[in-house]
Amino acid sequence: RQAKLAERPLAGKRIVVTAGGTVERIDPVRFISNDSSGKMGFAIAKAAQRLGAEVMIVAGSTQVSPPPEIPVTTVTSAQEMYEALTAVWEETDILVKAAAVADYRPKETARHKIKKSDEAFVLELVKNIDILESLGKQKTHQFLIGFAAETDELEKHAMDKLKRKNCDLLVANDVTAEGAGFGSDTNVVNIYDASGLVQSIPRMAKEEVALRIMELAAARLAGSRQ
Ligand code: CTP
Ligand code: CA
Repeated sequence: RQAKLAERPLAGKRIVVTAGGTVERIDPVRFISNDSSGKMGFAIAKAAQRLGAEVMIVAGSTQVSPPPEIPVTTVTSAQEMYEALTAVWEETDILVKAAAVADYRPKETARHKIKKSDEAFVLELVKNIDILESLGKQKTHQFLIGFAAETDELEKHAMDKLKRKNCDLLVANDVTAEGAGFGSDTNVVNIYDASGLVQSIPRMAKEEVALRIMELAAARLAGSRQ
């Protein structure tokens, strides 16, 4: 029984993983979005399931297919992603926010294709809801794992986001580092908690990085420190 517990430390936990990028429509043929292949989020979902959790994926736009064995809710915009998450919020034990959410959306979505003219085109953008920050404020028992892709001052930005969004852990990566970031099959990340750096994970397969992250979350949830 002890061995079982060690192998499946997330048994009985409900985990929601967001993956991919949100898409904000300009018109029926155009949109703005963010880089995100979906690979890291899907790897997290698989790792969580392997550790015994009941997993659900909320996916935006991705380049790869989600793992077939895990239920997926597909969303388009940040607003839709927020609604999908609030619908399951009460029953969520761990939320992993690996998705790249568009910070802004077009003020208006044109119903018909916008035609070009000789004039310069100005697109007005309005701010999207910060899903993680908003859910962080509504946290009761949920364990929140945020992500941050940065190009500079990794620790400063990571700690700022962790605190602002009330995360329990924040996984940060420098997208300019070799073998890290978008589309890559590997990643290099630092994991932070409120007290600072907890773990530096050198370059390894995203599956392996995902397992380390979920093992750390499991250990934290079990009340032990690692
Ligand atoms: N996030 C979110 N809702 C948003 C923007 C971001 O839930 N509207 C989440 C992301 O899913 C990620 C974390 O917040 O887990 C950090 O995202 P990031 O874009 O790095 O942070 P921002 O606060 O948007 O800061 P900036 O883009 O200015 O670096
Ligand atoms: Ca952002």
